Order: sequence, then C-alpha cells, then structure tokens
Amino acid sequence: MKSEKIGIIGSGLIGRAWSMLFASVGYQVMLYDILPEQTRSALEEIQKELYVLKAKKALRGKLSPAEQFKCISVTTDISELVRGAIYLQECIPERIDMKRALYMQLAEIVEPETIMGSSTSTYMPSLFSEQMPKRRENVVVAHPLNPPYYIPLVEIVPAPWTKPHYVTRTRELMIEIGQKPVTLSREIEGFVTNRIQYAILNEVWRLVGDGIVSVADVDRVMTEGLGLRYALLGPLETGHLNANDVSDYVQRFGGEIYAVSQTYGPTPKMEPGAVLSKIAAECEAMVPKTQMKARREQRDRFLHELVELKKNLK
Ligand SMILES: NC(=O)c1ccc[n+]([C@@H]2O[C@H](COP(=O)([O-])OP(=O)(O)OC[C@H]3O[C@@H](n4cnc5c(N)ncnc54)[C@H](O)[C@@H]3O)[C@@H](O)[C@H]2O)c1
Repeated sequence: MKSEKIGIIGSGLIGRAWSMLFASVGYQVMLYDILPEQTRSALEEIQKELYVLKAKKALRGKLSPAEQFKCISVTTDISELVRGAIYLQECIPERIDMKRALYMQLAEIVEPETIMGSSTSTYMPSLFSEQMPKRRENVVVAHPLNPPYYIPLVEIVPAPWTKPHYVTRTRELMIEIGQKPVTLSREIEGFVTNRIQYAILNEVWRLVGDGIVSVADVDRVMTEGLGLRYALLGPLETGHLNANDVSDYVQRFGGEIYAVSQTYGPTPKMEPGAVLSKIAAECEAMVPKTQMKARREQRDRFLHELVELKKNLK
C-alpha cells in the first residue's frame, strides 16, 4: 500500500474505472462527486466489481479485493478531495461549460504541485484551462479508452502552458498503474486515437451508406482482418513488413494509396436519416438491445484474454 493520495472527480463509468486502476497498485484513492447518492452507489459497485474480477481472474495488481477496496474512500467535499492529493483525474460529463467551471474552482484550491488530468475524449486542454487564474500549468489531458480497466491506452495531451515535468510525471503514473501511455507533443483536435477512429468511421459510413457492404461484413473486415494485425502491429510496421522495408512499401504502393484516397469524396455528415436508419437496423439485428449487457461483458472478457495473450507472447 502507498501513502500518496489520488483524487478522482466524478464517479460515473470512467471515474469508477480510474479508482480501481489506482487502487490496484495501492494508492489512497478518494472519489468525489457532486451527487452524494452517486458516490454511495459507486462505492457499492466498485466493491462488488473487485470480487467479480477476482473470480474471473481479471483483477489487476497484487493486492486482494479487500485490500484494494480499503484504498478507496468517497467524499462530496471538493476541499477534502484536493487536500494532499498528488494527482487528480477529472471524469465529469463531456460538457465544456461544466469542465470550465470545475477548473476555475480547482485553480483556487489545488496545492501548487498537484497535477490535474482530464479524461475528456474531445476537448483540447487549452479549451478549459486557458482562463484559469493560476495553476493552468498543472493541467493535462489523460484520455483513456472505454473500458479503461481492459484497454490500457492513455493519450497524454499537454496544453501550450502545461509544465513538461507534469506531462512526464503523468506518464510515469500511468505506467505505474499498468496503463500504456502515448504522449502528444502538442494538442490537436481529436487527439490521435479519435482522429484515426473518425477516419475509419467516415469511410465505414460511406461504404454502408452506398450499399457496398453490410454492417456485419464491414465489422468482419476489422475483426477478422485489419484488427488481427493491429492488435500486434501498427499500420506503419505493417507496411515495413509487407515489403522489403517501409521505403520500399511507399515506393510500391504510395501511388495507389493516393489514387484510391482521391475517390473518398467529402466528409460525410453523420446525422439521423436514411443511412443511420439502415445502420441502426443492422446493428439491432446483430446485437438486439436485450443482449447489449451480455455482449459488453463478453467484450470485456475477450479484451482481458487478448491483453493476457499479448503479455504471454512477449
Ligand atoms: N464513457 C466513455 O466511453 C468515455 C471514454 C473515454 C473518456 N471519457 C470521458 O470521461 C469523462 C466522464 O465520462 P463518464 O462516461 O464517466 O461520464 P458519466 O456521465 O457516467 O459520469 C459523470 C459523473 O460526474 C458527476 N459530476 C457532474 N458534475 C460534476 C462536478 N462538477 N464535480 C464532480 N462530479 C460531477 C456526475 O454526477 C456523474 O457521476 C468525460 O469527459 C468523457 O468524455 C468517457
């Protein structure tokens, strides 16, 4: 067990996952929410979940469920939360007005060396830290992927004024709790994961919308094709191995990649309409609403087994 304190702000889906991740290596975790009933139910759910994870052999860290649970406390008092915390992980709803208000409040109460990491998926850190009267150099984005307990990637994104030492320290913390961080040199809309994910979603939307392929088949392209590779190799190493080296790959295929890319057309607007109705009907046929919970549990089990398999491969 460690003596250092980590504060988690917001006890929804992502706040609960971060609490368990930090507790898995013995940090003293304090979970804060504006809704008292939300903190109570979060604590109950975390306790249940830790024992379920143990039974499924998916519990992280070396501590028992009881030891990990003992590391977690809750509060509805933000001053109590920030007192003595070395790091705060903010997990409040994805609303810029709410984030801005919270960071203005934090500016006045956090200790000089406390790092504030935001879980935001979409807002560049400058958008909610710029107006802070002080401590804006302590703000960084630490963006997880859902579900963070099973997917280790965390994107660390600095604002133009973030102190480099806090970026490094956040990265070290993520490694310590078993996550796999990537650090961006500067902020950019969508960070890296969503820029890539959105490029895929745009093309999938076009291909299904144009009737070229079904939802089930386009998903199969990922799960039985590209995804198998990408669980092991990135797109650039894939190119490197598929030719004599990456330079040879670019010489051989660069022209073709450019020619096909010219045919993509404008970025589609994802909005309600005929394409969405078609996609929604096919998704519902694949996973009816009544089976969503079971499918999410299956996803988590697969992800856990895949991560374990990758550890063993090394
Ligand atoms: N859900 C995902 O798949 C996912 C993935 C990656 C990142 N994120 C990001 O994580 C953040 C949290 O997402 P979530 O899905 O857990 O949200 P959520 O809506 O499940 O939970 C938000 C919690 O914050 C509490 N809250 C609201 N205002 C607050 C305040 N001022 N102070 C303290 N608590 C407050 C709410 O009561 C609620 O319990 C968002 O920024 C989201 O973009 C979410």
